[in-house]
Amino acid sequence: MALKVGIVGVRGIGERHVQAYVNDPLAELGAVCDLVKERADSAAAKYGVRAYYRLTDMLEGEPDLDIVDVATGGYENGSWHYVPAMEAMEAGRHVLVEKPLSSDVQQAREMVAKATEKDIYLGCNLNHYFTPPAERAKQHLESGEVGELVYCLAKIGFHGGEVDTYRPATSPVQKGFPYFHLKAFLSHPFSVMRYLCGDITHVQAFLNRPGFRRGAGDVMLSTASIHVRFANDCVGYLLSQRGDASYGLGGWWSVEVAGTRGTFCIENCIEKLTYWQAPRSGGASGRENNEPGTPGGPVVTSSGIADFNQTFPRRIHAFLEDITNHVPKDQLRASGRDALAALEYTWAVIESHEQGGILVRPHPLPPR
Ligand SMILES: NC(=O)c1ccc[n+]([C@@H]2O[C@H](COP(=O)([O-])OP(=O)(O)OC[C@H]3O[C@@H](n4cnc5c(N)ncnc54)[C@H](O)[C@@H]3O)[C@@H](O)[C@H]2O)c1
Repeated sequence: MALKVGIVGVRGIGERHVQAYVNDPLAELGAVCDLVKERADSAAAKYGVRAYYRLTDMLEGEPDLDIVDVATGGYENGSWHYVPAMEAMEAGRHVLVEKPLSSDVQQAREMVAKATEKDIYLGCNLNHYFTPPAERAKQHLESGEVGELVYCLAKIGFHGGEVDTYRPATSPVQKGFPYFHLKAFLSHPFSVMRYLCGDITHVQAFLNRPGFRRGAGDVMLSTASIHVRFANDCVGYLLSQRGDASYGLGGWWSVEVAGTRGTFCIENCIEKLTYWQAPRSGGASGRENNEPGTPGGPVVTSSGIADFNQTFPRRIHAFLEDITNHVPKDQLRASGRDALAALEYTWAVIESHEQGGILVRPHPLPPR
């Protein structure tokens, strides 16, 4: 039977969530809720469901909702997640929250603890690894084609620079927050790195913002250079910047994972994966085997999908599938705990920066 879903927050991203549920056979859209009446009314009219303006009313008026999807934003894009997510979990509903789980790590810890206490599914929209390239990457890892992990190199950010494109933030959710980029965005690259390489145990960070931001009084630390170590001893590096420079090689999103038997690189999130087998004795050497299509050369697998927005229905479908299949709570894909891990690493980045670049051990996660 389809799972009945109520959505809290139906603006930009919430509208994407609504569409994903409407088009998914595992779901039935039950109701929409937004503090702004016109937004709730407009979505309700469009999709033929009832509008609510307070979650409390939606929970009372729709007692058979299975899932509450929290697509609100807030300061640093996450301060309005905690209250509705906690209320929905307290009412015993399964919850999917947009990323970041919260803009406050202590609140995120409480959210994960609440899901455990109420024995419900708490998921997060860590949509960047619900893609065909990430599935292919997992196959390479699990089949042994990568071998012992050597390094993970991630570069994920925004296109920009000082010429023409820069506009100081005016939105109250962003303006004046030095850690906006870290809190709002790093959940994505950190969750992808952890998905592919496992838990991170050490973090060291250097943060900066270029002169054009300083000159405009923009306090956001928009360039993050982050060095990490994983529990399996693999080393890693994440460069994330929010429009301080133009893209170099790899575009807006590239994650390369290298091992003793092979290396893969995912480019543009959903678009393609390239796999390079480690050199074999007697095989083609050096430059010769580094061109796609040459014997022993890299194998490129394109997904045929260029639209990043396809990650939303894919991730939401996985959440619906996991609940429909009653997977054990600790096997939920992109769980609240997974999202908390990304936030613990983000807080370690902030601590490292505030202490002059020291090495920080992220706060431990709760047991599964
Ligand atoms: N996963 C991704 O790829 C991705 C991409 C962009 C944004 N996001 C995330 O999506 C979230 C939403 O972003 P957005 O740009 O749509 O935000 P937004 O602020 O434009 O819209 C949020 C909506 O929620 C409503 N709202 C807020 N608090 C509410 C409450 N308590 N009850 C009912 N309605 C409430 C607001 O009135 C608004 O209409 C953010 O957390 C952001 O970080 C995710």
